[in-house]
Amino acid sequence: MTDMQTTVTSQGSGNARPAKAASAARPAARKGERWIAPAKIAVFIAAWYPLARIVLFGLTDRLGANPIEFITRSTGLWTLVFLCITLAVTPLRRLTGVNALLRFRRMLGLYAFFYATLHFTTYIWFDKWFDVAAMLKDVGKRPFITVGFAAFLLLIPLAATSPRAMARKLGRHWQQLHRAIYAIAGLAILHFWWMKAGKHDLILPKIYGAIVIALLGWRLLVWVRGRFFERQRL
Ligand code: HEM
Repeated sequence: MTDMQTTVTSQGSGNARPAKAASAARPAARKGERWIAPAKIAVFIAAWYPLARIVLFGLTDRLGANPIEFITRSTGLWTLVFLCITLAVTPLRRLTGVNALLRFRRMLGLYAFFYATLHFTTYIWFDKWFDVAAMLKDVGKRPFITVGFAAFLLLIPLAATSPRAMARKLGRHWQQLHRAIYAIAGLAILHFWWMKAGKHDLILPKIYGAIVIALLGWRLLVWVRGRFFERQRL
């Protein structure tokens, strides 16, 4: 039976069996999706852990000799972690076949933005006290800050257009805009790498760099394969 036929019969003309089958399948699908709501709540709560840890350490005097540095580094690292998890959603969905994973992507991306905002605020407020001259001097001395700033600026339109209504309104432009996540991930690694290179401690930047390369490389492979098969088909 063709799709067209299924549509016609499911709308009630003649044989009503396909329509019945579809409505019977719907509750089954919903049953299989029951784990999503609790899992979303669990992810929502777990994502507060980095901030809760900072607050707890602050209250118990465990932020070390330089609390501002501790907070800047912690929020910076967690921004990167959430960026990587957000980028991992699509490959994981493809590899596992669990399409519902896509429903977590927006929340994870927004947490990346949340921690980036905390990271940026800690820097401009508690580190530089909104002293623009001091910030410009810092940028000249430590160019990794410019790179981090570029990554943060690119994140803003993605967060602003994350509501579903915006995605609907922007249509295919939404997808194009959200491809900026790849540039953001690249800039974040450069920011991290540059910062740590000055300290001759590149272990973590190498690990995160490898993760980002793997996640972006996978997308590139899928895209190249898609183009190849499309050409073959044509
Ligand atoms: C998407 C945006 C960003 C990401 C993913 C990010 C990530 C990171 C990471 C991973 C670190 C190192 C943490 C560690 O040592 O373990 C870091 C440090 C830092 N970042 Fe960012 N960052 C971003 C944006 C920014 C922005 C906008 C600024 C300021 C304008 C900034 C300023 C700093 C500073 C000052 C440090 C610490 C340097 C030090 O302790 O010597 N970052 N960031």
